[in-house]
Amino acid sequence: MNWAIPAIALVTLCLPACNRSDAQLVASDQIVGDTIPQPLTTLLGRPEIGQTLFNAREAGHCVLCHQVVDSDTPFQGNLGPDLTFVGDRLSAGELRLRIADYDQFKPGTVMPSYYRTHDLYQVGEAFQNAPILTAQEVEDLVAYLAGLKE
Ligand code: HEC
Repeated sequence: MNWAIPAIALVTLCLPACNRSDAQLVASDQIVGDTIPQPLTTLLGRPEIGQTLFNAREAGHCVLCHQVVDSDTPFQGNLGPDLTFVGDRLSAGELRLRIADYDQFKPGTVMPSYYRTHDLYQVGEAFQNAPILTAQEVEDLVAYLAGLKE
């Protein structure tokens, strides 16, 4: 019997599936309801840094899709909900899930998953195993948005 054929078949089958990174930065057991109750880091989130990340084109650039009314940033988008008083509406845990990996809770959402490396499509090689934001940056954004209260 020629073993080469099954071996080739196995390798071919395995390539798309086995090449993928199955490790999830946010494990499903960290998600409780629609929240991630526990912070992703031990260092507290820094709201001023979160605000910079929110507005910076080279960082989160959240203003591409969201608006915060009293911010000075020009050209704020409206594809996503207005986040002006989001701290009144959502808890830190709810904010954390929405920023980190909302797609895991609400598949197909337009809101990008900023702390995720699994199941991404059309990602440049340099970015394949790196989330868009670090855990600390997610916490900084959570601290900033949680403080946006009326
Ligand atoms: C490509 C557009 C886009 C970008 C960029 C984007 N968002 Fe969103 N965001 C959305 C959309 C659309 C929703 C609504 C998602 C839904 O309900 O499925 C959303 C929802 C949210 C929510 C929940 C709001 C609510 O009232 O329920 C938060 C919080 C949020 N985004 C924060 C952020 C932060 C922080 C960033 C930047 C790191 C960001 N978003 C970048 C499109 C975007």
